[in-house]
Amino acid sequence: MDIAAETFKLLEKNRREKQGHIYTVPSPSTYPYQWLWDSCFHAIMLAKREPDIAKQELLSLVSRQLPDGMIPHIIFWEEKITRPYQWGWGRKGTSSITQPPMLAYAAWEVHRALGDGPAFLKVIYPKLLSYYRYLIEERDPQDHHLIGIINPDESGEDNSPRFDSPMHVPPKVSFAEHFILRHKLVDMNRICNFDAATCMSENFWVKDVPFNSILVKNLEILCHIASLLGDAEGEHFATLHAGLIKEAMRTHLFHDGVFYSAANHDYKPLKVETWAHFAPLFADIYTKEEAERLIEQHFHNDETFRSAFGIRTVSKREPSYRRNGFWRGPIWMAPHWFIYKGLVAYGFDREARFILNTSVTLLEKNGFREYFDPEDGTGYGAHEFTWGGLVLDMLED
Ligand code: GLC
Repeated sequence: MDIAAETFKLLEKNRREKQGHIYTVPSPSTYPYQWLWDSCFHAIMLAKREPDIAKQELLSLVSRQLPDGMIPHIIFWEEKITRPYQWGWGRKGTSSITQPPMLAYAAWEVHRALGDGPAFLKVIYPKLLSYYRYLIEERDPQDHHLIGIINPDESGEDNSPRFDSPMHVPPKVSFAEHFILRHKLVDMNRICNFDAATCMSENFWVKDVPFNSILVKNLEILCHIASLLGDAEGEHFATLHAGLIKEAMRTHLFHDGVFYSAANHDYKPLKVETWAHFAPLFADIYTKEEAERLIEQHFHNDETFRSAFGIRTVSKREPSYRRNGFWRGPIWMAPHWFIYKGLVAYGFDREARFILNTSVTLLEKNGFREYFDPEDGTGYGAHEFTWGGLVLDMLED
């Protein structure tokens, strides 16, 4: 399979132009709108061959930034919404929740590919800065230095069992029941007008490990961009908060050698074994020794995370584990990509190769499906789903 050719064919097929904006839908039949972290992934892929389209993808994404700096996780770009994605309306045809903050990373990749000096960064930087300021100022009302999410969907891992306790659901909750409960949560948050401090203290407040790890990495890149553009204040803001979040993660989320997400103001640990253990590798949050232990005990463990087809999103030992259960066990390409990047940065070359090889096998076996059965490699969920293109970024790393 020519992964580059297939990726670019799919990205072109899924490309849309609406209201003068160009963007890519994650899957034409299942996800026919623009999604936040998906668009960041698209920009990373597009930057490899079509940097100008990659730039359009990000500009379209930031064009619907809300006045407080929040970037919504969906832009509908349609008058009529054909599927039940009522995640609370923003002001301009958007949802009212966000998603993992990959934007600075994606912008940097696009900048490098464009080779237009600082021109693109100058345009996007004010948007980036106000988005990251929103996260730091609004999502951390008690200055804990850990950023909170107000709905499981903000993690990008909609029904992950990490959120079972704050969602008050049992390990065997069905997909449909979970979906209804998440929408109820949107309704409850709508009542408090999506004011983060109120929503979090009354309804749902999780300091999630992947979200905060991704934020740390992105703040470091933001700092770099700020320095390049000569904004000393932005540079100071980004370094300061990257450091504070890293430290707070180590103080409050680190137990028995791994990181666990936590809920509420008192940091109640959500002790569910998920791929979140590996996410801090992406932002260099484990020491080298801790990372070695993590790899030995959790990565190389067929009873928990490792399968013949890659790394499970949930440990097989968890009562919530389901091999075809959406975010309750299957392999997804985005977690694979984050883990891959972390492994490479720490010099775990053999393990990185395992992620790359299993990802390629899954693509070759199934094409661009949404998620994969760790036990036999079957593809599930959306068709023509773009995340398989992240394998190209691993191949060309
Ligand atoms: C699913 C995924 C989410 C993704 C969206 C669009 O809801 O869980 O992470 O952004 O689909 O692809």
